[in-house]
Amino acid sequence: MTLDLFDDAPEAEPQRGKEAIGPGAFVLRGFALPSVGELLPALEAVAQHAPFRHLVTPGGFTMSVAMTNCGRLGWLSDRRGYRYAERDPQTGAPWPAMPAAFERLARTAAAEAGFEGFAPDACLVNRYEPGTRLSLHQDKDERDHGAPIVSVSLGMPAVFLWGGLARSDKPRRIPLAHGDVVVWGGPDRLRYHGVLPLEDRPHALFGSRRINLTFRKAG
Ligand code: SIN
Ligand code: FE2
Repeated sequence: MTLDLFDDAPEAEPQRGKEAIGPGAFVLRGFALPSVGELLPALEAVAQHAPFRHLVTPGGFTMSVAMTNCGRLGWLSDRRGYRYAERDPQTGAPWPAMPAAFERLARTAAAEAGFEGFAPDACLVNRYEPGTRLSLHQDKDERDHGAPIVSVSLGMPAVFLWGGLARSDKPRRIPLAHGDVVVWGGPDRLRYHGVLPLEDRPHALFGSRRINLTFRKAG
């Protein structure tokens, strides 16, 4: 008798540390590390054209996360609600194009999680500082829930809250480090998620900051 432990196992390729956190959700440990060198200058260029800002929620609260966008569509929040728009309301200009390195990372991470052909048209860039948090929410402002979400962590570590399909489901706490990528789609596409208030654990490249890139197919 032979044990086909390796022939058919979908995870038999060299381990990058792919952790399943749902039937359609994975943490890809360190997946973005080889890309950091090309992500950084691209990120700086995006933030120069579309500066980080603190958006106001429809309820009138100022978000502690600072945000900007690149790609054809950018996510916005103000007193009128949440939506995607083609222009940065702060400058009146289209959002900066999605850098090729961003697009490539999002596509390869999605494929690694089983979502081939991911073509994001929106990248929300979140900037966290010590104390910054993101309360539990669903990503549901996109037209196409058939495409996954790809979420890239850079800089300071964070604790990701990974809930269920109901707001009341108790979330799991998942530590995310520099270079980790979380992908969720299919039956997990509308899972609640958030980020606990960040501790000040400065990172060699990013200092007391965490950057999160969230790629979506929004339009
Ligand atoms: C988000 O849900 O938009 C961001 C999640 C994160 O910062 O890890
Ligand atoms: Fe989100």
